[in-house]
This record gives sequence, structure tokens and C-alpha cells, in this order.
Amino acid sequence: MHIKVPPIKCQGIKTKLVPFILSQIQWVEAAQSKWIEPFLGSGVVAFNLAPKRALLTDTNQHLIAFYQGIQTSDIDRKIVAEFLQDQGNKLLTMGANYYYEVRDRFNQSASPLDFLFLNRSCFNGVMRFNSKGGFNVPFCRKPQRFSQSYITKIANQVDWVAKQIAGKDWEFRVADWQQTLAEAQLSDFVYLDPPYIGRHTDYYNAWKQADAEKLAVVTKQLPCGFAVSMWFENQYRQNSHIQECWSDLERRVCQHFYHVGSKETLRGAIAEALLIKPGFSVRADQLLPIEVGAIAASLYPS
Ligand SMILES: C[S@@+](CC[C@H](N)C(=O)[O-])C[C@H]1O[C@@H](n2cnc3c(N)ncnc32)[C@H](O)[C@@H]1O
Repeated sequence: MHIKVPPIKCQGIKTKLVPFILSQIQWVEAAQSKWIEPFLGSGVVAFNLAPKRALLTDTNQHLIAFYQGIQTSDIDRKIVAEFLQDQGNKLLTMGANYYYEVRDRFNQSASPLDFLFLNRSCFNGVMRFNSKGGFNVPFCRKPQRFSQSYITKIANQVDWVAKQIAGKDWEFRVADWQQTLAEAQLSDFVYLDPPYIGRHTDYYNAWKQADAEKLAVVTKQLPCGFAVSMWFENQYRQNSHIQECWSDLERRVCQHFYHVGSKETLRGAIAEALLIKPGFSVRADQLLPIEVGAIAASLYPS
């Protein structure tokens, strides 16, 4: 499976795990069935799967507005390339001051193109908002950030998303996960990738233990199939929330082996779990070997 990357980056983006996630799920798309993602983030899972119908939601209105813009063709390859060319030139001339000017402008007007500019030139490519919802990530300190090849790469990513959306019955909507789950029907499939408890906390990601527990209760009452992504263990500990709230589900785990220099090492490794409603997972003995991006992965079912 050749995985493509969307134009917007966010914490917890599942790019490398898409083959693992999609290879574990057994869902037959029926005439009216929808793929539902209540925690859309970058959209990398939905865009690579490209179902016929989808309900794609997130509380972060900037993510949603950006993808709505692509859907209505207000944002396309050409518009993005011209915008980033122009803004990139200003960044090159004026440096960090220009980044902060765009950041202030974005926090006033919420322009989706400014959002893209900031997302692709901020420090470490993270997405973080202050308590009032203002984007507050500092500059990456590279005024030459928007090289011709970088602009082309981003424009191609926008074009790829436009192609994945074209002709499909997809809705992008700003919504809290509870509203979205309330719409799920019998033949739908829900993929959930909630924020990590207590990590990356910001305006759009205040995810506490109580939220995680409520999500488990509500999700398990869904009439349709579902799968939930969650970190399983790192070198220090296991995620006890899985045992506490999701132990009755089918559990598949993908272990990352990070490459350090030329060597493969478990140092800093993290295992990601996919918790699947019984009856909606591919049987473990029918799984095909998968390649997870640039990293090697091993699968071990629970
Ligand atoms: C881990 S990220 C999803 C990453 C995504 N699967 C990807 O690969 O890019 C979690 C997302 O949940 C959203 N979110 C946080 N709290 C939410 C809530 N209460 N309802 C809906 N979305 C929420 C965040 O804005 C963030 O985009």
C-alpha cells in the first residue's frame, strides 16, 4: 500500500500506521454506509482509504475549514503554490518578523491559507493553540523555508487530497466527538484516534481521564463497527487505560523499531494498539505482512 501524506501536519499524525490500521479492519462498504472519523486531525487515514461516503469531524475549525476549502475548490494546487510563493518571498526578505505578522493576521482572520503557511513553517511542525484559541507556535527559524521544491510538494499534497475528495459524498464538519458518534448507523464504520490523555494539551486538545472513560462507554454502545487507535506501551510502561476501559475488544499491536544510524533499535520504541469491535477485525491468521513506511514493524495479536 502506497501511503500519501496530506498537506496539514498535526501531533499524533498516523501516516506511518495507516497500512497497519487499514490492514486490520474488516468493513464492507454498503450502499449507504459511511466511514466516520470524529477525531480527523490531518485526515491521513480517511484520505488514504478514500471511502465513497464519509463524515469527517474535529473540534479544530481550522483543520475543517482547510479541507472544506479544498472540497469547494476555493483552495487548490495553483492557489496554494502562488500563495506560498508570494508569502515565502516575504518570509525570505523579512525573516521571523514576517512569520509573526502572518501569525497575528491568522489569529484575527482565521484564513485557511495562513493556517497552511504557519503549519508548514512553524517550529517542529507542531499545531498548538493558547487558552483563547490563538495559534502560538514560534517560527522554525528558517526564512528560506519555502523553497521551490517545498512549495511544489505542498501543492501536490493539496492536489492529492482534492482528487481523493472529488466525486465522493464526504462531509467535513466542526463537531465534538459525541455529536458525531450520535449519527452513526448500523452499516457505518467509526475510526477513532482521540488525543493522548494529558499530552499535547491545548485549546483543541484538552483530553482528560474522564473524557477517555466517557469515550469508551459511548463508543461501545455504537450500533456499527469501530476501531480505536491508542498508544500501547513504551519502554517505561504500558497504557493502563487500555486494560481499564477497552479490554473486551480485539487488540492488535504494531511495534515500531526506530532506526538509529544504520542500526535498528528498540530504544525509544513505542507500540501502538488498534482496539477493534469483535467481528470487525481481519483474522490474525489471514493478515498479510505489511510495511509501515520507513520503519519496520512487527505485528502481534493479543
Ligand atoms: C490524535 S489527533 C488525530 C490524528 C489523526 N488521526 C491523524 O492521523 O492526523 C486528535 C484530534 O482530535 C481532535 N479533538 C480533540 N478533542 C476533541 C473533541 N472533544 N471532539 C472532537 N475532536 C477532538 C483534535 O483537534 C485532533 O485533531
